[in-house]
Amino acid sequence: MVHIRLASVALLHSLLLTYGLAEDTKLSESLVGCDEVSCPKENAHDRCTVGEKTFLGIGLSRIPNVPSTLEGLSLIKGVNISEGGEGKRKFNSAYYLGTPSELDVNDLSGCVVAFNDPPEKQFDGPVKTGKDRNITEVQAARGTCPDIIEQECIDTLTERARSVTNATSNGGVCATLERELRRNAFEECRDLGGKGRGLGNFTVTSFGNLSTVRNSTDCWPVKPKSDDLALITENTAVGNNTAASMYQEAWKITPVLTVFIGKGNNSLVEKASSQMTCLKVVTEENPEEAENGSESSASMLSTNPRVAGIAVLIAAAWVAL
Ligand SMILES: *[C@@H]1O[C@H](CO)[C@@H](O)[C@H](O)[C@H]1NC(C)=O
Ligand SMILES: *[C@@H]1O[C@H](CO)[C@@H](O)[C@H](O)[C@H]1NC(C)=O
Ligand SMILES: *[C@@H]1O[C@H](CO)[C@@H](O)[C@H](O)[C@H]1NC(C)=O
Ligand SMILES: *[C@@H]1O[C@H](CO)[C@@H](O)[C@H](O)[C@H]1NC(C)=O
Ligand SMILES: *[C@@H]1O[C@H](CO)[C@@H](O)[C@H](O)[C@H]1NC(C)=O
Ligand SMILES: *[C@@H]1O[C@H](CO)[C@@H](O)[C@H](O)[C@H]1NC(C)=O
Ligand SMILES: *[C@@H]1O[C@H](CO)[C@@H](O)[C@H](O)[C@H]1NC(C)=O
Ligand SMILES: *[C@@H]1O[C@H](CO)[C@@H](O)[C@H](O)[C@H]1NC(C)=O
Ligand SMILES: *[C@@H]1O[C@H](CO)[C@@H](O)[C@H](O)[C@H]1NC(C)=O
Repeated sequence: MVHIRLASVALLHSLLLTYGLAEDTKLSESLVGCDEVSCPKENAHDRCTVGEKTFLGIGLSRIPNVPSTLEGLSLIKGVNISEGGEGKRKFNSAYYLGTPSELDVNDLSGCVVAFNDPPEKQFDGPVKTGKDRNITEVQAARGTCPDIIEQECIDTLTERARSVTNATSNGGVCATLERELRRNAFEECRDLGGKGRGLGNFTVTSFGNLSTVRNSTDCWPVKPKSDDLALITENTAVGNNTAASMYQEAWKITPVLTVFIGKGNNSLVEKASSQMTCLKVVTEENPEEAENGSESSASMLSTNPRVAGIAVLIAAAWVAL
């Protein structure tokens, strides 16, 4: 009796241990920001320097619906702002693949498509109640692709990506996928890149073309920390120095289509598989700004010179780097 109880205690103990370990690799939500991966803070603002690139915030999501051999893969987006001259601002986005330590990025084969123009719909965010109006906090808003993209569109794109890549012999898979995406109207996706704009502007990258990132700074925006990072692609959108433009561009949603294909004879994937992940920088309200009141910084930014000053400073500081 005693013996059995001891054994079951041991079992329980080991279960707890495994559970504890598993917890560490889980994200609290499907899309998380700097708080979850513990970026350093600059005053109350998030700041994350990855390699040589400094971002005002990041968004991290696991790639959903991957085959079990690819479980734990993440996509990360970072954004910064630079001066564009004549009241213009450049909104620079960089995208990274996070790979669990036991998975070698060189063993992956397939393509990543970043849809650079944001979808028409937005994620729901925390709502700040105000005297005259209630405002959604764009910065903290988060969600998953099905919240903002028609399921039909997601299904169509992933299915097409799967079938096109499966039908192509290894060499020019991503070029073939790109041609296919440019050639078709994808009626189900007419609002993917903005209302009535179809797929919008997109960038196709091969997994064979990622560059691994050296872990040399105080920010490693992935969880667990033992995961590796590789740069997928970068994109710049030009906006202006108004608050509206900042919120529209810096915190925009970027859908990312991935397709993984078999590679050689001991491949990680048996057959092509494809997923859609939605990325967005997630930053929590600056506590300094949140302190007073009912109005969110979104509305204050344009009217309150102090807060507007901070935003411009962020941009200016990075230009100066
Ligand atoms: C801003 O981000 C872009 C990537 O989108 C990067 O190339 C650039 O170096 C970054 N700028 C700074 C000052 O870190
Ligand atoms: C803001 O939201 C609150 C609570 O949901 C509601 O009672 C109020 O009427 C809303 N105010 C406006 C201006 O919409
Ligand atoms: C991939 O192609 C093979 C033959 O070329 C076919 O048997 C298989 O059904 C295809 N798989 C998918 C997911 O399209
Ligand atoms: C997509 O954006 C890039 C740079 O941002 C630009 O060079 C290219 O012409 C755009 N393509 C389309 C189809 O709009
Ligand atoms: C990698 O990128 C270069 C140029 O950007 C291109 O010529 C090459 O074909 C790409 N390689 C793969 C495997 O896609
Ligand atoms: C990256 O550096 C952090 C410390 O800054 C460390 O905790 C983490 O394990 C490192 N990860 C890798 C993959 O090197
Ligand atoms: C700045 O950008 C916003 C958002 O795109 C736009 O609505 C506004 O007209 C632009 N303002 C100027 C002065 O260009
Ligand atoms: C598997 O790949 C190895 C090396 O790439 C090759 O030597 C071997 O013949 C392959 N086996 C089969 C069954 O194709
Ligand atoms: C916040 O509001 C309170 C009272 O309304 C005021 O005393 C305080 O100075 C304000 N703080 C800031 C940082 O504006």
